Formats: sequence, C-alpha cells, structure tokens
Amino acid sequence: MAVKKNSSEITVGAVGLGYVGQPFVGAMAEAGFNVVGLDIDQNLINKLSEDYEPTVYEPGLKEIFKVHQANISFTSNYEVMMQKSDAIFLSVGTPLNSKGEPDSKSIEACVSEIAPRVKNGQLIILRSTVVPGTTRWLADQIQKRTGLQPGTDFFVAFSPERTVSGNAVQELKTLPAIVGGMDDESTKRSVHIMKLLSKSIVITTSSPEIAEVAKLVDNMYRTLNIGFANELGLIAEGAGIDAYEVVSAVNKSYERTSVFRPALGAEGPCLSKDPLILRHFAQTKGVETKILDAVVDVNKNATDRIALEIIGFIEKHKINNPIISLLGLAFKGSPETDDVRGSPAIAVIESIQNYFDSTKVTFQLFDPIVTNFQGLNTEINVDDSIRDANIVVVMNDHKLLRNIPIGHIAQISKRPLLVIDAWHSIKGLDSFEKSENIEVFRVGDGQK
Ligand SMILES: NC(=O)c1ccc[n+]([C@@H]2O[C@H](COP(=O)([O-])OP(=O)(O)OC[C@H]3O[C@@H](n4cnc5c(N)ncnc54)[C@H](O)[C@@H]3O)[C@@H](O)[C@H]2O)c1
Repeated sequence: MAVKKNSSEITVGAVGLGYVGQPFVGAMAEAGFNVVGLDIDQNLINKLSEDYEPTVYEPGLKEIFKVHQANISFTSNYEVMMQKSDAIFLSVGTPLNSKGEPDSKSIEACVSEIAPRVKNGQLIILRSTVVPGTTRWLADQIQKRTGLQPGTDFFVAFSPERTVSGNAVQELKTLPAIVGGMDDESTKRSVHIMKLLSKSIVITTSSPEIAEVAKLVDNMYRTLNIGFANELGLIAEGAGIDAYEVVSAVNKSYERTSVFRPALGAEGPCLSKDPLILRHFAQTKGVETKILDAVVDVNKNATDRIALEIIGFIEKHKINNPIISLLGLAFKGSPETDDVRGSPAIAVIESIQNYFDSTKVTFQLFDPIVTNFQGLNTEINVDDSIRDANIVVVMNDHKLLRNIPIGHIAQISKRPLLVIDAWHSIKGLDSFEKSENIEVFRVGDGQK
C-alpha cells in the first residue's frame, strides 16, 4: 500500500488516553492528522466526547482540543478505531504488580483486540515503556492472528514516549524521537509519521529491542543521577557542608558535569517503576544489577527518612495530636503536574499512618495544582496548611512553594515546630537560629 504523504491524509489511532495518550492526541491533531482516541474507560470516553476537556493537567491541551475538535474523535470501540486508522499508537499503562514486577495485563488486553483486526498496510507503533522484546511479541501476535506478513503486509515499530508531563505537548513537537522498526519498511514508515509530528531529528535503531532498552536507559540515567545526588546529600550532611553549594560549584560553566541536587527519592509514575522493569529484563538474561539495586535503595531511603524525621520529632516531644503540613503533593513541582502517582507525599503519609494511631495525626495538605488527593482534604492555600502545624515539610519544587519566609512559618505554626525543607526553598534559613522549640532540617545541608 502506498504511503500517504501529508498528515491531513492520515488517520491515527491513539490507544490509551492517560497522561501520555491525551497530549499525544492533541499534538497529532495540531500537526494536522485526523485522530481517533481509544480507551477502555467508558466514563473517560464519554467525558472527552462530550466536552473535549482533557482530564489530565497539561498546559495548552484544552485549547488544542477545542481548536482541532473537528479532527479528533473518541471511542471505546476497537473495531471503529481500527477501521479508520492508518497508523495505531499504543500508550496504555505498564505498571508494576504487587511483587514489583512488570504487569503486562493492559498491553496484552490491548494487543488481543488489535492483532486480529490489523489490515493490509497498517502501521502499529508501541509507545508504552515495556520489557524489551514486547514489540517483537506484538508483531508475532498480529502475524499469528491474521496470517499477514510483517514488513510487507503490516508494519510494527517501537517509538518511546520521552516527554515530561506538564510540558508534553511542546516536547512532542521538539524532542528527538527514537524509532526502532521490526524491519526497514516499518522503520521508514514510522520515521515518516514522526517527522510530520516533530521538528526534531528522528533517531533510528537497528531493532525494536535497542529502542526499548534506550527508553529504560533514559529513565535509569535520571534515577542514577538522583541516587548519586541523594548520597552526596548524606555526605554533605555528615561533613557539615551544603551539597547545593557543591553542586552549584561543580556544574557552573562546565558542560561536562551536570550533577543533580539532593532532595527526595526518584518518584513519579516512571522513575518509580522503569528501573525495576530494566532490572526484571536483566534478571531474565541472568545478569546481576548491583548499581541499579543500590540506587533504588538509596532513593527509597531518601523519602523514607523524611517520615522517620517526622516520627522521631513527634516521639521526642511527646506531641499527642500532631498537625503535619505537607506542601507539594504532586510527584514533582516543575514542570507542574496534577500527577500524584508515586508521589513522596503518599509514601510519607502512609509511613506515618502505619506508625501512629492515624486518628491522632492531622495532615494539612496543600498543592498548587492537585485538589483531588487520595480522597483526603486539601487546603486552598499555603497558610491554611501551615497554620497551627507542628511539622511543616516542603515536598516538591513548585514555584509557588519557593521563598516562603521561615519567619512567617514560625509566626503562624505551633510549638514545638519541625521545618523540613527538601528543596532548599524556604527563605531566610541561612540566618535563622534553631531553638529548643523550633528545629530545622534542610536536606543535603549539614549546616542546617
Ligand atoms: N506519564 C508519563 O509522563 C510517561 C512518560 C513517558 C512514558 N510513559 C509510559 O507511557 C505509558 C502510559 O503511561 P500513562 O502515564 O499515560 O498511563 P495512564 O495510566 O495515565 O494511562 C493509561 C490509559 O490506558 C488505558 N488502558 C488500559 N488498558 C487499556 C486497553 N486494554 N485498551 C485501551 N486502553 C487501555 C487506561 O484506561 C488509561 O486511561 C506507560 O507505559 C508509561 O510508562 C509515561
């Protein structure tokens, strides 16, 4: 089948309309494609079809949906999507199961719907982060279910999602895409589509497995940097120096080095799971992952220690009904997001609730973006969260949580008071003197 040249001639199916799928629909529509978005969540499809309002926080997406509404449709019907689409992009979730291993249920369910319906000439591009080998398995499934031949009758490639939530629409247009096709024709057709989407270069790999591992390496690299930063933070605390000053000195005007600053663990929907997908893959090949294991441990401790500091403070001061203010509930503050999956705030709340009688501890929670947090109440501003609290913790790096004066916190909170500044964002700490009733812990800073 001839390849359609222009985006306006091409209909793409986007399967899985979560944090990745919805911005992808918007970016494809903006690039001129016709888009059929599919999800098994019927409530989500009803909502999207009714008002074309994204259900994930992604700046600019709402406007794009409105402007390009005529070229976007939503369905939960695989037959409809497969009939209309020239190329089908899969972005369903790939979480871990309760044993911490990759859970491929969503991918399997989605492939069982797609495989028997593939028609001559269709291109399937997998974008979910997967155990390497999944793209090859997907192509096998299509061949088995249809009898069609890969590389001549249908085409399959892996092209990972590399954006950060909160800036995804922009990044889809500008980031280099990686494409690993099952064969030359699959790669060629995928590159053609990705070039219509992004102004950036498209990097091709010799196999889908290389592209699949590349995606895991992207996130492992960040996890390693975070782990090293957190260990540096511990060293600095032990040495009575400030790791932020070390990092700033080592990075400044020296492109060879780009060290992260210590804060919390490697959190969020991707970094909390992708290293474990890589570990699982290594184990299936009989390879030990000593560095990976150590980093996962270091990062877990970086979040756990916040809960331990809080618990230690409450016990030391025998506070009967402590009030804990957590500022920043999303897994990250910059770029801002409403995504709370793998959020350190959840881990800290769980540890504290497991330790104390949970009816005796009050959490006053605030986030500039997140209003719906695990069914718990959230405050409408910083002051309502801090007021009368015994413990105040800055949990993420959102710009609205930067520069809160320590004097102001001290004024409206209770005594005894513990202030934990995980991101060096509280103003005035350098000149602030600790007292018996006020303790301050700035992560990675041995002077505070
Ligand atoms: N969130 C990110 O920023 C990010 C970044 C890069 C890569 N990724 C990867 O992209 C993939 C998707 O992540 P996400 O954050 O969008 O997940 P998500 O949970 O937000 O969305 C997944 C969507 O898939 C739908 N779904 C599940 N099974 C389905 C099926 N059988 N058929 C159709 N739809 C189905 C769900 O209903 C949900 O709406 C994951 O593999 C993730 O690791 C995510």
